Amino acid sequence: MADGNTRFDFSPDVEAAVAPIWERVKSRVTPLEWQIHAPLIAQINRIKREKNAVILAHNYMTPEIFHGVGDYVGDSLGLAREAARSDATIIVQAGVHFMAETSKVLCPDKTILIPDLRAGCSLASSITGADVRLIKQRYPGLPVVTYVNTTAEVKAETDICCTSANAVQVVEWAAREWGVDRVILIPDEFLARNVAAQTDVKIIAWQGRCEVHERFNAQDVADMRAAYPGAEILAHPECPEEVLAAADFAGSTAAMTDYVVARRPKQVVLLTECSMASNIAADTPEVEFLGPCNLCPHMKRITLQNILDALVKEQFKVTVDPVLADRARLAVQRMVDLPPPAVPARYDMIKARHHVDVELI
Ligand code: 13P
Ligand code: SF4
Repeated sequence: MADGNTRFDFSPDVEAAVAPIWERVKSRVTPLEWQIHAPLIAQINRIKREKNAVILAHNYMTPEIFHGVGDYVGDSLGLAREAARSDATIIVQAGVHFMAETSKVLCPDKTILIPDLRAGCSLASSITGADVRLIKQRYPGLPVVTYVNTTAEVKAETDICCTSANAVQVVEWAAREWGVDRVILIPDEFLARNVAAQTDVKIIAWQGRCEVHERFNAQDVADMRAAYPGAEILAHPECPEEVLAAADFAGSTAAMTDYVVARRPKQVVLLTECSMASNIAADTPEVEFLGPCNLCPHMKRITLQNILDALVKEQFKVTVDPVLADRARLAVQRMVDLPPPAVPARYDMIKARHHVDVELI
């Protein structure tokens, strides 16, 4: 059996086995890099079959992972849905730790592996379960909606989870179910502000930030508009509200992908993580992707080599205390059970109302 230090050859057999993948990634991966990636991809895909394993790959994975070994690719919501319905024995989460924990919460009997335990998230580390308990004491009777970018410990204190794809839908559902006009939406302040601009429900927010998206600002949008007047500008809802108000479209990573694939703009700017453009480019060769973009250091900890090691050594197993997992599952399952959101974002409302205030805890 191969281990993490084994070197594999770029043999004619390997080259032939991965030729269809090369066709998809060759605009973004150099032939020299491919000689290193291709043998790893061939090995990973063989071991997956042997072990009845699947790889859930987030949209921010590098293209050789996303197109080479991902069995299911998508945004946080899509990957959670796939985990819930998977019949694999092993799930390798090619993403960050909170995503792997979400899979473990939904599939307690499966082996969930993360290739690098250090793949964290600035939003997940911005809040603890104890913080949420204090928030609930301060706002008794109000529902707590928690972004999936949180630990299982935080989800366990939560009424329902949301992702950037369904946050407005979930907040409005919670307000209706609890019969209230205020909802706690934690921990991403910018997501909370962007949701507040799209609903009449009042939002109580926490001051967590995504270290990747908080760095974009309205000047970036103005600069791109000046340099490329025809380019369409898309932004993730974790960006500051001024960015979304100045952009042409706001949505989750999957919603941005759908937008580019469906509309094929000549030039596009994706104000999000850099690998998004590389991954969409495989299906949209006629679209020119322009900067700026930012790298997520946590997502970038996942590599083909550590995915191979994860499969071979069955490491690193993600565990969640069963009592905590039962409580967290209620919140995640409630979200998964809602119908998929019909509209990615009420974008005109963000533009018209982006100044709507939220109460910061
Ligand atoms: P999505 O749910 O849009 O995939 O976003 C996850 C994430 O971590 C974005 O920074
Ligand atoms: Fe977390 Fe931001 Fe990285 Fe997404 S991009 S995993 S929100 S730090």
